[in-house]
Amino acid sequence: MSSMSTMDDARRTPTASRLRTESLHAGYEGRPVLADLSIEIPDGSFTVILGPNACGKSTLLRSLVRLIRPTDGSVLLDGASVASIPTKQLARTVGLLPQSSQAPEGITVADLVSRGRHPHQSLLRRWSTDDEDAVARALADTGMTDLASRSVDELSGGQRQRAWIAMALAQQTPLLLLDEPTTFLDIAHQLEVLQLCTRLRRSGRTLVAVLHDLNQALRYATHIVAMRDGEILAQGTPEEVGTAELVERVYGVAARIIDDPETGRPLVIPKAPDPGT
Ligand SMILES: Nc1ncnc2c1ncn2[C@@H]1O[C@H](COP(=O)(O)OP(=O)(O)OP(=O)(O)O)[C@@H](O)[C@H]1O
Ligand SMILES: [Mg+2]
Repeated sequence: MSSMSTMDDARRTPTASRLRTESLHAGYEGRPVLADLSIEIPDGSFTVILGPNACGKSTLLRSLVRLIRPTDGSVLLDGASVASIPTKQLARTVGLLPQSSQAPEGITVADLVSRGRHPHQSLLRRWSTDDEDAVARALADTGMTDLASRSVDELSGGQRQRAWIAMALAQQTPLLLLDEPTTFLDIAHQLEVLQLCTRLRRSGRTLVAVLHDLNQALRYATHIVAMRDGEILAQGTPEEVGTAELVERVYGVAARIIDDPETGRPLVIPKAPDPGT
């Protein structure tokens, strides 16, 4: 088998979930989005959330970090409702890279990434060598060290995306949620981000990412949550979720599944349209 087999072994070990939702309902001003959604993010997993545009993936991530309050049900961190957890404590435990963010005008990459350290600061604990190290590490992990003094406004789309990822990394939370971290990146940088997620997972952190590339999800995830219309259609291992039936149910796309020749995991091949249609 491939080098992925050690990941497969880790994946079968039953784990607890520090972060989960119970019958979560959430939405925006009278527009319900998430309906009765119960998920568990397995500790130490790289969980990928899949689903069509507008199905509620970002709404789910926002709910997990309390940017949106549930209309019913709850989000639980270590058994306590996130609504009851002090803001800084929550921010030291769960980090979110939002799908899109606006950097303050003129801010440099280094300053943006340094903002990831805010939850670690207090009146008594100002900027420290720990903070310095975390920022340097995050810049190095995202290949942004050489761009640290550049203004964020003047970066390419992909460089800017990596600057935001670096900020989320600098927060050094045990749980890290990434909303479409690979959007805007070329394939080499996409793979770097996914490999970084795997490295972080192996060092004991729990990663959650929204991805649109099914085959990257199936290759890198240890756990997949498939959503549609604000509901969970399936959650499980890539082998459990990577079926033609599920691709059809989630996206309405007819596909066949073959073995990924690199990893042995499921590989989704969309069916070609009939000739003449
Ligand atoms: N701030 C908001 N105010 C009102 N409605 C919103 C807001 N953000 C999202 N919505 C709506 O909530 C629904 C779910 O949006 P959400 O952003 O969670 O989808 P998504 O699955 O992340 O989609 P995508 O893949 O396009 O990012 C959509 O119908 C969207 O229009
Ligand atoms: Mg989204």
